[in-house]
Amino acid sequence: MTTTIIDGLYYANKIINEIKTKVDKLKIKPKLVVILVGNDNASQIYVNNKQKRCLEVGIMSEVLHFDENINQTELLDIIKQLNEDTEVNAILVQMPLPKHINPDKIVEAISPVKDVDGFHPYNVGKLALNMTPYSIACTPSGILKLLNAYNIKINGKHVVIIGRSNIVGRPLMSLLLNNNATVTVCHSKTENLKEITNTADILISAVGKSNFINSAFVKHNVCIIDVGINRDKNNKITGDVDFNDIFDKCSFITPVPKGVGPMTIAMLLQNTLNLYDIQNKK
Ligand code: GUN
Repeated sequence: MTTTIIDGLYYANKIINEIKTKVDKLKIKPKLVVILVGNDNASQIYVNNKQKRCLEVGIMSEVLHFDENINQTELLDIIKQLNEDTEVNAILVQMPLPKHINPDKIVEAISPVKDVDGFHPYNVGKLALNMTPYSIACTPSGILKLLNAYNIKINGKHVVIIGRSNIVGRPLMSLLLNNNATVTVCHSKTENLKEITNTADILISAVGKSNFINSAFVKHNVCIIDVGINRDKNNKITGDVDFNDIFDKCSFITPVPKGVGPMTIAMLLQNTLNLYDIQNKK
C-alpha cells in the first residue's frame, strides 16, 4: 500500500490563481476588513498572511489593529460602521479575543452577508439545515475541497472529528453530514477515544497538541486530516499527528505545514469574492 501526501499548498495556489483571474476582471475590487485586538503573536502572523494573500490577488484588505483594552461597546460600534459601509464586502474578527469581550456578541453583530468566516448564527444555522449560507467556515470548506481534489470518498464513510470548536469541529460536522458521511464528533470529555478513532475511515484532528495522534489510534488505510498548528519544544511548527509513526498505516495524510493551513486562507479569499458577488447581485 502506498501513502499519498495531500498537497494543500498546491491546491491553495491553484484556487488563489483562479480567484486572481476573476478579481483582475472586476472594476471595483472586493474589500476585506480584518479586526485584530491585542498582541497575540500567532494571531498577528495569521493576519499578516491573510493580508499578504489578499494583496496578491488584488483584493483590498485593511487591518484595524486595536489595543487589547478596547471595550466591547467600542468594538460593536466599529462593526456597525463596517456593516453600513458599502465599500466593505467582508469582515473578519480574528479570534481569540481578550477575555473581557464576549466573542458570541461580536460574531452576532457582523452582518451575515459580510460574515467572511461563516461564524454568524444565521450562516451556521443555514449550514446545519443543509440550506445555502452566505459563507461556510474556511477551514472546514478547505478540508472538503482537499478530500474532493483527491477523490476521497465521503459518501457513507465514517468520519471521526476530534474537536468541537465553532471554528472547525462543529461546521465540519454539518458540512460532512451534508455530504452523506456518518460523522462522530469527539472532544476533551470523550471516553474511549482510541476505540472510536479506530473505526474512522477519515480521521480529522483539531486538538492542538503535538504528536497527540499516533498509529495506535487508527486502522489501516485511514485518511488523516491534521488541522493542528502547534509548536514543539524546538519551536518547530507541528500538527496533532505523529506523521512518521502513522505514515505507513494511512492511505492519505495532510502534512503540517503545507496541508490544511494554506487552504484556509484560499477559502477566505474565495468567501470574500463570493460575498462581493452576492452583494453586487442585489
Ligand atoms: N482564529 C483561528 N482561526 C481563525 C479563523 O479561521 N477565523 C478567525 N476569525 N479567527 C481565527
